[in-house]
Amino acid sequence: MTEQRVAIVTGAAQGIGAAIARELAADGHKVVVADLNLEGASAVAQEIDGVAKLLDISDEAAVARVVGEVVDEFGRIDILVNNAGLVPFTPWEKLDFAEWKRVFDVNVNGLYLMTKSAGDVMAQGGYGRIVNIASNTFVAGTPNCAHYVATKGAYIGFTRALAGEIGKHGITINAVAPGIIASEGVLSGPHADGFDYVVPMQAFARRGVPSDIGPAVAFLASEKASWITGQTLVVDGGHTRN
Ligand SMILES: NC(=O)c1ccc[n+]([C@@H]2O[C@H](COP(=O)([O-])OP(=O)(O)OC[C@H]3O[C@@H](n4cnc5c(N)ncnc54)[C@H](O)[C@@H]3O)[C@@H](O)[C@H]2O)c1
Repeated sequence: MTEQRVAIVTGAAQGIGAAIARELAADGHKVVVADLNLEGASAVAQEIDGVAKLLDISDEAAVARVVGEVVDEFGRIDILVNNAGLVPFTPWEKLDFAEWKRVFDVNVNGLYLMTKSAGDVMAQGGYGRIVNIASNTFVAGTPNCAHYVATKGAYIGFTRALAGEIGKHGITINAVAPGIIASEGVLSGPHADGFDYVVPMQAFARRGVPSDIGPAVAFLASEKASWITGQTLVVDGGHTRN
């Protein structure tokens, strides 16, 4: 029995993040469920005996506050899952600079702020697992969300680059790139039509669901994955094969 690890999962009030939080809790970790939606985060936290935190990952002061609270409460951060993100659907002709900047502010600047803040705590403890939720849209070149695909490519580049700098602190950093998943966010918007196109290309003729992603993240977040870093694992039912 290994000691209990402390994990922060961003955007864990619903969808893929909630499924990751459940998986990490099932592995025995104490999970901080961080989200803009405190009500949803609280419901997930209650279910898994975790802790809910109100957090906007693009707000530098809020990130510092939440990371500080977790350290005060538990004395450590061992696992960070950068899952929170905007998943827009906007054709290029309609994509203005304000939306482009907003998506980068949350997805990319949020990735920086969380990794910097929680990563410094991990470095002090000499151990860490960071898992960044990218997307197979970076592999597939999915249309109608060029800004989103660009941000997810940034996750993969960041993961590759940072691995070499934080390994000396005992920290691994990897990315998981899901295919289209029936999360609350996807089901409530035009991305839902994508299943008709994608499912026939997969190896399995069904919709991907959030619980299809949790196990891959939990493995990369485990002590056992100590020799894997800087990698991207595509988890998309065989939709893309590279
Ligand atoms: N669903 C898919 O098909 C799919 C595929 C590939 C990758 N992803 C990635 O998985 C992640 C989760 O996607 P999902 O479909 O579960 O999303 P979702 O929209 O269902 O849930 C996203 C959660 O993130 C939270 N959130 C949004 N902005 C935030 C912020 N600034 N700070 C904190 N929390 C914030 C929301 O409140 C929500 O609870 C995203 O990074 C997305 O890019 C999703």
